[in-house]
Amino acid sequence: MATVPSQGLQVLYTRQQIAERVAELGAQITRDLNGEKLVMVGVLKGAAPFLADLARSIQADATFDFVATSSYGKGQRTSGAVRLIKDLDESIEGKNVLIVEDILDTGLTLAYLRKLLLQQRPKTLRIVTLLDKPSRRIEKIEPDYVGFSIPNLFVIGYGMDYAERYRNLPDICLMTPDHPE
Ligand code: IMP
Ligand code: MG
Repeated sequence: MATVPSQGLQVLYTRQQIAERVAELGAQITRDLNGEKLVMVGVLKGAAPFLADLARSIQADATFDFVATSSYGKGQRTSGAVRLIKDLDESIEGKNVLIVEDILDTGLTLAYLRKLLLQQRPKTLRIVTLLDKPSRRIEKIEPDYVGFSIPNLFVIGYGMDYAERYRNLPDICLMTPDHPE
C-alpha cells in the first residue's frame, strides 16, 4: 500500500483505481438501463463525490435527488438507529431509481432507505455502493453493484469522513486508530 507523505495516511485505493472502477460501474449500469431514464438518489454527504463521478460515466437520461439519514455520530461507532433528515424532492413513483451510497457497512441505513423508497412504488430500485464491508452486516442487503469489497477497516476520503473531516481526500485511505486527530 502506498503512503501519502503529507498526511501520513495509508492509501487503500488510489484516485486512478477509483476512476477505473467507477467507469466500469457506469458502463454496467448503462447496459442494464436499456435506454431507459434513471433517477440517481445520493445518500448525503458521503456519496456526493461518487455520485458526481458515476453520473458522468452513465450514458442515460438521468436526474439527481438526494436523501440524508442520521449519521454515524462523531466517531467510528454507530448508534444503530437510522432517521431521515432530508427526504426526496421529487416523487419516484414508476421510475427507475438507483440509490448511490459510499459504503455499505451494517446495512441499517440501506435497509431503512430501501423500505422507505419502495413505499413510493418505483418501477425499479437498484443499489450501487462504492465500498462494501460484508463482514459487518446486521441487515440483509444485496447491493446490485459494488465497487470494492473490503474487510472490516475504517476508511476515509473520496466522500467518507471521520468526524466530518477528510471527505475531500482524492484517494480512499485507512483511518488507523493511532492517527493523530
Ligand atoms: P451502515 O448503516 O452501517 O451500513 O452504514 C452506512 C454509513 O456508515 C455509510 O454510509 C457511512 O456514512 C458510514 N460508514 C460506515 N463505515 C464507514 C467507514 O469505514 N468510514 C466512513 N464512514 C463509514
Ligand atoms: Mg454514507
